[in-house]
Amino acid sequence: MIEDRTENHDTAIHHVLRAAFDGDGESQLVDDLRDDGDALVDRIWTDAGRVVGYVMFSRMAAPFRAAALAPVAVDAAFRQKGIADALIRDGIKSLTRAGCQGLFVLGDPGYYQRFGFDVDAAKGFTSPYSGPYFQFLAIETDIRKGRVDYAPAFARL
Ligand SMILES: CC(C)(COP(=O)(O)OP(=O)(O)OC[C@H]1O[C@@H](n2cnc3c(N)ncnc32)[C@H](O)[C@@H]1OP(=O)(O)O)[C@@H](O)C(=O)NCCC(=O)NCCS
Repeated sequence: MIEDRTENHDTAIHHVLRAAFDGDGESQLVDDLRDDGDALVDRIWTDAGRVVGYVMFSRMAAPFRAAALAPVAVDAAFRQKGIADALIRDGIKSLTRAGCQGLFVLGDPGYYQRFGFDVDAAKGFTSPYSGPYFQFLAIETDIRKGRVDYAPAFARL
């Protein structure tokens, strides 16, 4: 079940992120993105009332309205059940409805291509994250080049 994050979920979200990424970096990142007003999609997956999955999409600076997918994490005991898939697709749908024109992600293309993210489509964009893991999903834009920047909190990760 997908729900919007509230403050009551934060301890459980930190737990999921700390276990998935082996450290506090991503917990700090999502807190900073919220504090900076850059969090656009901030959602959890609950199982019997317990937070077992988490996703955030955050604002980017780009030549069109853009967002970055990161982080996404699922409790190890609940993986391979489509939870991340559902959280990501739900986030893409919400952002599309909200007028977001393109999405970026840094990660394994083998996973993210199922959502439409594409390494080649990202190649024209300039970013500190440019490279074989940087991917773009066009929602409603023909622009394929220009400078794109993640929200400032990422620089502190
Ligand atoms: C990546 C992650 C969120 C996937 O969660 P999940 O709920 O198990 O994902 P789903 O059930 O929707 O999808 C499972 C699929 O993802 C694939 N997958 C999982 N992690 C992957 C990775 N790092 N690279 C490539 N594929 C991956 C699985 O092999 C599986 O593939 P299949 O559908 O072809 O069998 C989860 O494994 C996790 O929390 N990992 C640690 C944190 C992380 O690496 N997050 C992503 C980077 S921000």
